[in-house]
Amino acid sequence: MLPNFPRAVADDEAPVNRTIKVDDRLYHYLLDVSVRESALLKALRLETAQYHMARMQLSPEVGQLLALLVKLQAPKKLLEIGVFTGYSTLSMAMAMSKDAHFIAIEKKQMWLDIATRYLEQANVMDRVTTYCDKALPVMTSFLVDQKETFDFIFIDADKQNLLAYYDVAKQLLRPGGCLLIDNTLWWGNVADEAFTDKDTQIVRQLNATIHQDTDVELSLIPIGDGLTLVRKNT
Ligand SMILES: C[S@@+](CC[C@H](N)C(=O)[O-])C[C@H]1O[C@@H](n2cnc3c(N)ncnc32)[C@H](O)[C@@H]1O
Repeated sequence: MLPNFPRAVADDEAPVNRTIKVDDRLYHYLLDVSVRESALLKALRLETAQYHMARMQLSPEVGQLLALLVKLQAPKKLLEIGVFTGYSTLSMAMAMSKDAHFIAIEKKQMWLDIATRYLEQANVMDRVTTYCDKALPVMTSFLVDQKETFDFIFIDADKQNLLAYYDVAKQLLRPGGCLLIDNTLWWGNVADEAFTDKDTQIVRQLNATIHQDTDVELSLIPIGDGLTLVRKNT
């Protein structure tokens, strides 16, 4: 058994129907019939592909899900941790309403410069504030006068601070607000006991924490390498 994970469903109680496995053929079908990537997002994705860290970029189907959730939830105040070259930022910013405001935090100026260039092309920079800084101190500073003021928060940065990000994000989120955390299946490694590295252990710990947290409702969606959707109740 994996550490921190008591089995919630015994083998003889396993659901008869389960989430299907997505092989390459099915994945391409899914892209073909559901993804509507704008020319600007595509240009950003292709520009990012030249960097060896391109694997950090959100996949188009996840970007589209974020944009759809923004449209459904209609948040007025959004926060993102971990911009990279801005695929998620651009996806959400283009979907938000004209009176919404978006705060995005990224520690590397080089990535933020690329993101800003695309946000400017999308004409949303007047509604976006970027911080080039480590996310945790910035988020913590918001606790002084912005507790429970955010409607929508997306966490997609380092795993080292993941538990702290969850804790602070929950305090910044208003009741009924939406919190999304990317990479919660961590390339599948979370379910494989052979992986005992720090990041995998932290993601497992976060998943256990959210599962046991009665302040929230959750769904761990097997899209990308796992996206956890949380609604704060109280
Ligand atoms: C997985 S990438 C984000 C991908 C991005 N959301 C996208 O759609 O392409 C993680 C980003 O978090 C940034 N990051 C890592 N640690 C950070 C920290 N402590 N504070 C702020 N940003 C951080 C990295 O520089 C990197 O750009």
